[in-house]
Formats: sequence, C-alpha cells, structure tokens
Amino acid sequence: MEKTNGNIIPEGFLWGGAVTSFQTEGAWNEGGKGPSIVDARPVKEGQSDWTTAVDFYHRYKEDIALFKEMGFNAYRTSISWSRIFPDGEGEANEEGLKFYDDLFDEMLANGIQPVITLYHFDLPLALQKKYNGFASREVVDLFGRYARTVFKRYGEKVKYWLTFNEQNLVLTNPDFWGVDIKGVENEEALRYQVTHHAFVAHAKAVKSLHELVPGGQMAGMVTYMTTYPNTCKPEDAIANLKAKELLADFYFDVFAHGEYPTYVTSNLKKKGIMPVFEEGDAELLKENTVDYLSISYYQSQTVSAEKTDEKRLISGVTPNPNLETNEWGWAIDPIGLRVCLKDMYARYRLPIFITENGIGVREELNENNTVEDDYRIEYLSEHIKQVKLAMEEGVDVFGYLTWGSTDIISSGGQFEKRYGFVYVNRGEIDLRDLKRYKKQSFDWFKQVIESNGADLENKTSVTVK
Ligand code: BG6
Repeated sequence: MEKTNGNIIPEGFLWGGAVTSFQTEGAWNEGGKGPSIVDARPVKEGQSDWTTAVDFYHRYKEDIALFKEMGFNAYRTSISWSRIFPDGEGEANEEGLKFYDDLFDEMLANGIQPVITLYHFDLPLALQKKYNGFASREVVDLFGRYARTVFKRYGEKVKYWLTFNEQNLVLTNPDFWGVDIKGVENEEALRYQVTHHAFVAHAKAVKSLHELVPGGQMAGMVTYMTTYPNTCKPEDAIANLKAKELLADFYFDVFAHGEYPTYVTSNLKKKGIMPVFEEGDAELLKENTVDYLSISYYQSQTVSAEKTDEKRLISGVTPNPNLETNEWGWAIDPIGLRVCLKDMYARYRLPIFITENGIGVREELNENNTVEDDYRIEYLSEHIKQVKLAMEEGVDVFGYLTWGSTDIISSGGQFEKRYGFVYVNRGEIDLRDLKRYKKQSFDWFKQVIESNGADLENKTSVTVK
C-alpha cells in the first residue's frame, strides 16, 4: 500500500466496524438455524436475551446503507456455525448458506468487503452436549469441515478471515469453546488440552484456506490487554513479562512461528501436563502459520509481583491508578494501543489488523433524536492518533475497525452498554421499534474515513459533559 499526500495512512487502508452474528442478527431459530451455546446461556435478570438482538438478519440492507454512507470499506462479522450446520455435523443448511451469500453480496455491492470470523464463542449446542465442545478431537474435525464448507462457498467474496475470536481466552474461559471443566480431576491439564485443540483447529483452517482460496488471508486473533509493571521494581517487571506470556505472547508465538514457546513447554513438562499431540499436530502447526495478526484492544492494566499467586494461571493483574476507566471499569489508555502495536510488530514483523476498539456507554436519544457522544469521538480519535504514531514508527497496520457500528448487545448480555455510531431504539427487554438513529459520532467517523484518517477533529461538538 502506498502513502499519499504525506498522510501516514496508505490508500486502501481498511476502515469500518466489527460485530458478531449473535450480537446483531437475532432470528435465532429462523432460516433452519440450530441453537448455539449462546442461545442456551441463562439470561441475567433485567437483561436482554439473544433472540432478536438488533434484528440485523432482517434489516441488514438498511444497516449496510448507513455503513456505506459513513464510507466503510470493510465490515467484520462472524458466520454462525449453527446456521450452516444446525447440529454441528450432518447436512449443511442451504438457507443458512444463502443468508451469508446475500449478506456478503450486499456488502460488496456497497463497496464494503466482508471480514469474517469463523468462530465467535457460539458453538452449535449439539456439539457441547454430545462431545463437551473442543475438549474432543471430533469437534476439531467438525470445525475443519465447517471451515472448508464456508471457504468453498464464500472464497470469492471474502479475502480476510479470522479463525477464533480472541483465541487467548481459551485457557481462562474454555466454556466459550463449549467445554465444561467442572469436576475434572486435573483441570489445568484439560485447559491446556482444549487450548491445544483450538490451535490445531486454527491451523487446519489456515491450511484449508490456503489450499482452497488463492490470495485468502488468515489471522490469529487475540484480545490484547497491554500490561505494565506496577512499579519499577525488577520483581514487577518479571511478573509483568510472565503475565504477558499467557495473556498474549503464547498465542501469537504459535500463530506466527508455528510451535509452542519454551516458556510454556518448560512449565507444562515440569507439571507433567503437556497436552497430547496426535501424530502430525506439530507439523500441522509448523506448516500453517498466519498471514496477518489481529487484535481487539480496549484497555490496559498493571501487574504487581506482590499480588501474584502461583496457583492461578494468570495473576497479579491490577488496575492502573493513573488511568480513568469507563463505567465498567475498563481503563482508557490510547498509548497502551501503541505499546501493543510496537511490541507485536517488533516480535513478529507481520501486518496487523485492529479488528475491535471502542467504548461502551449508557446512552439515550435526546430531543433531537440523536446522541451527543463526544466521549466516543474523543476515545476513538485518541486511539487512532496512537495508531498513526505507531505507523510513523514503522509498524505495518492495514486496517482499523471499531467495535459496533450500530448498537449491539454486549457480550455479557446487556443492551444498555452501547458501542455504535448508530443508536438502535430498543431497551434491555422492551424491543420498542428497533429504529436506527445517527449519533453525533456518525458524521465524525465519516469525516475520518473521507480524509483517510488525516482529519480527526471533532467539528460537531455541542457539549462536552
Ligand atoms: C470483545 C468481544 O471481547 O469485546 C465482543 O469480541 C465483545 O464479543 C467486545 O462484545 C466488547 O465487550 P462487551 O462485554 O462490552 O460487549
């Protein structure tokens, strides 16, 4: 990609938003879709269920028209595995396949390239019940079959793919991979075995994409929480490095170098819990490294040696007293994004795609049927400034997607934690009319994209609260 007019952001840079199928589509039991583990998750009192979300399944044309108006040239969503294979195995569901065909065609007709996550924590429920999710190699193979099915079907429409959303959560949250670890004798061993299965499934998908789709680009993705030593004591520096190894480095090392790092294997061997590698696993990982790296970035933390606990997988992580947080306690740290980008690029020298960044806030429409979300403009512009500085310092970033575009349901099931440029008129439980209204940030992001990131100024500011 070439730079233009002295702007560090090159022509062709990808701008847009990112979501998932289950946080937007609704239509949870329409079009032949089977239930996923998200559909079966208990709904917290006073919060939304997943049945309607923002009804993107029926309203995607309207939403894509708004994204086009903002100038998006990319939009990330996920394919719902249980729309394609309702019970995870058996026959593919043509109606589900057709839905994504139509969706991707609509995006492309509007100049927006689909960026597609294969798996965003929504395993077909039947695979959890029958196999305990990714605890089983059967599910690894079924994931491989699902991946090949969608590569064959959409290979000509989709260039950029991601295997698992935030794969670094597998160790701490195996339930997101459909695995129940309760009552297991050696819980830690199982966590690492599931982590290994996720790596194998990821590598199988990389292999299939490269075989089936010429030019197809596959990422490994991590949710990156930048961490700092809590003080300048050497003990804190070491504690920070050790936390970072399991928070992020382990995953990127396998994605990029194709083998387990020795800081992980030495520990697992010492404990006698090296995961079972089936014949061919090591070669599969080695031969199928990624084309680019992808992150979600929201916050940073510090790590304190005093608070570490040998019994826990990752420990010592504490809040940074120097940073403000949002209402959900997430520390706002734009410079932390630059720290992350520089560290990743120095370690791997692979192109980086930022596929999530944003701030969740409780919001209501005002009397002018808009939301004056200066705080969102401020949050995003400060992060984009740091991306540009990282690029000036030599980091290869080729795209920036915000989290949400319309409001969506948050991962914990709350609707009132809103992320979008477009307000969706619904409450937690009351669906109201689901009408879309542009927030103040809509025009701002449009201006950012129009200027290819050169003009970040907030010209629409009314009141800064
Ligand atoms: C990421 C997930 O971790 O963060 C999304 O990929 C999620 O699914 C996003 O929605 C924001 O988190 P939350 O909890 O505010 O929705």
